Formats: sequence, structure tokens, C-alpha cells
Amino acid sequence: MKCLIDRKVYKRCKTFNNAMVYLAALLICCTIIFFGYADSSKKKIKIGLSMDSLRVERWRKDRDIFIEEAKKLGAEVIVQSADGDERRQNQQAENLITQGVDILVVIPKDSVAAAQIVKSAHEEGIKVIAYDRLIKESNPDLYISFDNEKVGYLQAEYLLRKKPKGNYFLLGGAPSDNNAQLLREGQLRALKPAIDKGDIKLVAEGKHWAVNWDPNDALEKTEQVLTQVNNQIDAVVASNDGTAGGVIQALEGQNLAGKVLVSGQDAELAACQRIVKGTQTMTVYKPIRSIAKEAAHAAVALAKGEKIEKAKQKVNNGKVDVPSILLTPIQVDKDNLDEVVIKDGFHSRDKVYQTKKP
Ligand code: BGC
Repeated sequence: MKCLIDRKVYKRCKTFNNAMVYLAALLICCTIIFFGYADSSKKKIKIGLSMDSLRVERWRKDRDIFIEEAKKLGAEVIVQSADGDERRQNQQAENLITQGVDILVVIPKDSVAAAQIVKSAHEEGIKVIAYDRLIKESNPDLYISFDNEKVGYLQAEYLLRKKPKGNYFLLGGAPSDNNAQLLREGQLRALKPAIDKGDIKLVAEGKHWAVNWDPNDALEKTEQVLTQVNNQIDAVVASNDGTAGGVIQALEGQNLAGKVLVSGQDAELAACQRIVKGTQTMTVYKPIRSIAKEAAHAAVALAKGEKIEKAKQKVNNGKVDVPSILLTPIQVDKDNLDEVVIKDGFHSRDKVYQTKKP
């Protein structure tokens, strides 16, 4: 009898003990899950910013504003600049992936070579934003830029309004940069009706492109073309301000600066000063503050796995339609320089007009 009672008690105790063990295990699991989650949600987002180079003035602004905005959002940014070398850029991106970044923001040196970056990042579950320049032959998660075809259109359209007839030289940007192609499309869209009418003649068959957007290359190519056409040029559609600087140097050598119209892009300080001086006709202003801030917000959101509601547009990169945010560029000449560029705080009035100081 005693023995029977003991067995019953023993059985009950065993069941009780088991229940306690289960409860304790459950509690431990919940604690691990809770603290693990709390810890990961607190974890600082790490953004890798992979840049083609910092040679052109605007990129230093892009970098600084991007970092500042990302910091405000609680994220950390690791910057790598490839100094114009696509292979180095790919290696640097691999390195950023190894460092455990949560998201990659890439300004590709070469729109095609950078496809490898997207592939490697995706293999590790890391999303990629193509910043300012599209990455082709891959599926980047977001493309954020200005409407570059429109930039090209605004450049040529402005010069055409000032000089509806004459010889035009189209100087393209880096052939490796998808933007350079888009700019050319926009420039030709603006000029085509006048070319078809015979009012505008393209000299040097519009075949010149400045390698790496290099102002020295622009200078040399313009000198060659001026010699080739015996200085018979009325306008140079230069694709950015850096190359416009090279063009203007070549024109100065022939005493043609200020007589031949020259376009640009970026509203670089030196270009704004040339506009004031009268040697550069116009530039296209692209508010860097907007693109850099927009990209920082998108990077943090994508890293958190959120959707980018603003990416309403789609741009085809030859492989897929990439969700895109395209901002609007603005034509700038001496008449609206103050209103657009200075008022926006891009450059100070003092610096822009320093050429006028005694
Ligand atoms: C950018 C321009 C810049 C050029 C050279 C282009 O892709 O859109 O703003 O001047 O690269 O860096």
C-alpha cells in the first residue's frame, strides 16, 4: 500500500518537474528571442558608399551631405573612392561587403563593370542603390538620379535659342558613364529639328567624348577640332562644367573665349565664375542636397527592409526596369544664377562674384 502511494507521489512529482523544465526552457527561448530582436533593432545600420572618384567638385558635396543625413538617421557610412578605376571600385565594394555593410550605395565608374557589385552584394542579401549613374546588366534595387536626358536637352536647347544657326561641336562625357549617353540623346533631341532643316551643322561628326570626364582631354580634343575646322565653331555643347573648363581654355588659346557659346552642368564654382565673366554661357544646376538626402533616406529604409514609396518611375537598364527616383535639373545662366544657385546656398555670392572684385 505504502509502496503504491509512493509511486503515485513520485509520478506526480515527475510530471510537475517536467512541466517546470518545459516552462524554464520556454522562458529562456522567449528571453533570447526578445533580447535578440531588441538588439538587432537597436543595431546601427552600416552603409557602404562606393564612389567612382572625388575629382569633380560635386562628388565631395554628395559625400558630405550623404554622410551628414545618414548620421541624422542613426546610420554609419563607410566611404571608398576608386579614383576612376573600375577594377579598384569592384574590389573596394567586395571589401565593403566583407565588412558587413547592410546596404551598398554605388556611384559606378563603369556602368557595365559595376554589375558585378550588384551580383556580389545580392549573393549576401545586401541591397544596392545606383546613385546618380545607372548600373546596367544587373538588377539594382533602386536608381536615384536627375533626369539626365533632360540635362542634355537643357544644355543644347539653351545654346540653340541663343544661336539658332551655325556650327556646333558636341563634346560628350566619359563613354563608360551611362549618363554621358543619356546627355547625348537629350542634346540630339533638342538639335535634331535644326539639323534636319540645315540650320545647324555638327562639326567633327559629334564623335568626341572626354575620357573619364577629364578636362585635359576636353582641352586637347577641342584644340584638335578647332584646327580641323579652322576655328569655324559657333557653339560647344560640353556635357559638364569640368570639360567646359577645358573647352574654354582651348578657346582662350584662339582668342575665341566669350565669342563661342559653351554649355555645362553641375554649377561648379569655377563654372559660375566663368558665367559671370562671360566665357561660359550656361550650366545646369542639379540640387545635390536633394539627391544626397533622398539617397540617405532610401538607403536606411532599404536596409530596414522597407519599401521605397517614392520610387514611382521605372528606368530600363537593358535587363530589368529599375525602380527609380528622378529629380529635376534647372537651366542656369547669368540672369538666374543668384536666384537659383546662390539662393539655394550652393555657393556664396562673394565667391561667385569674386571675379568682379578689384
Ligand atoms: C554626373 C555629372 C558629373 C560627371 C563627372 C556624371 O555622371 O551626372 O554631374 O559632372 O559624371 O563626374
